[in-house]
Amino acid sequence: MVLRPPEISCSTAQVAVIGAGNVGATLAQRLIEKNIADVVLLDVVEGRPQGVALDLMEARGVERHDRQIIGTNNFADTAGSNVVVITAGLPRRPGMSRDDLLLTNGKIVLDVTQKAIAHSANATLIVVTNPLDVMTYLGWKTSGLPAHQVMGMAGVLDSARFQTFIAMELGVSINDINATVLGSHGDLMVPLPRYSTVNGIPIAKFLDAAAIDRIVTRTRNGGAEVVELLKTGGAYYAPASAVCVMVESIIYNQPRILPVAAYLDGEYGLNDIFIGVPCRLGCQGIESVLELDLTEPEQAELHTSAESVRQNLDQLRSLLGNVGVSF
Ligand code: LAC
Repeated sequence: MVLRPPEISCSTAQVAVIGAGNVGATLAQRLIEKNIADVVLLDVVEGRPQGVALDLMEARGVERHDRQIIGTNNFADTAGSNVVVITAGLPRRPGMSRDDLLLTNGKIVLDVTQKAIAHSANATLIVVTNPLDVMTYLGWKTSGLPAHQVMGMAGVLDSARFQTFIAMELGVSINDINATVLGSHGDLMVPLPRYSTVNGIPIAKFLDAAAIDRIVTRTRNGGAEVVELLKTGGAYYAPASAVCVMVESIIYNQPRILPVAAYLDGEYGLNDIFIGVPCRLGCQGIESVLELDLTEPEQAELHTSAESVRQNLDQLRSLLGNVGVSF
């Protein structure tokens, strides 16, 4: 029996994952095994993306899905991607803050974003490299994409950590927890207990102020706690899950409300900055920014968080300026 190839080739959504480290490889696995998209996994290290891709293709014999993944060192192979995810960059080592990575990762994000968007001019860009909010701004400037097509992954991860610690403290299912975190992806992130609930019931009905403070602190240190334990490199399972849900929302045009690093143009009294706020995602990228009513202390915390992003942005401008790059 001869099976002829179909006369019309049907296209499947394609995601370019730039960087085949732990976050990139785990994201690739989640995307294909959840049947969300085909993946082109790219890395500068020869053999690494090809090896990860082959291993994941072989797993299809057991996992039984038809999504394709290729590994490559050549940006031309990422052409026509619907979503480009930038995970390339150095991870934190113990004792290092996300900001120590500024110049090194700045140069990497600049380089790979230019090359990836040159081949996928209409993609939505998701930046994952740290320090997150600053790298997202740099990715936006470098890509030349409209701001709504650019976002950073952090709020989903930080909120997931917050939700996890609430569920663990209360001994209830994670399915019943909703919790949200605004602000920069760093020590000054702004978890919002007031907007965090157990099936709609505010967590303050179950937890006293000291317990909430403890959970908030653990959420802020969520990434560092994993770095300290692993000793080499940072978290990747939860970060990959967080990116995956954002990609899914964009590709399937699901209007999910998710906290992401978005460009603000006056919302929350902030301008010309990428920082974590709840957004409605969809096939256009960020379809709208939701403005929550904040108390004065919450608003002040968000502005302090934004101030730290601005300082980092200024520092990155000056560091890149020294090597002849302006943005
Ligand atoms: C973390 C990294 C992804 O928070 O920043 O684990």
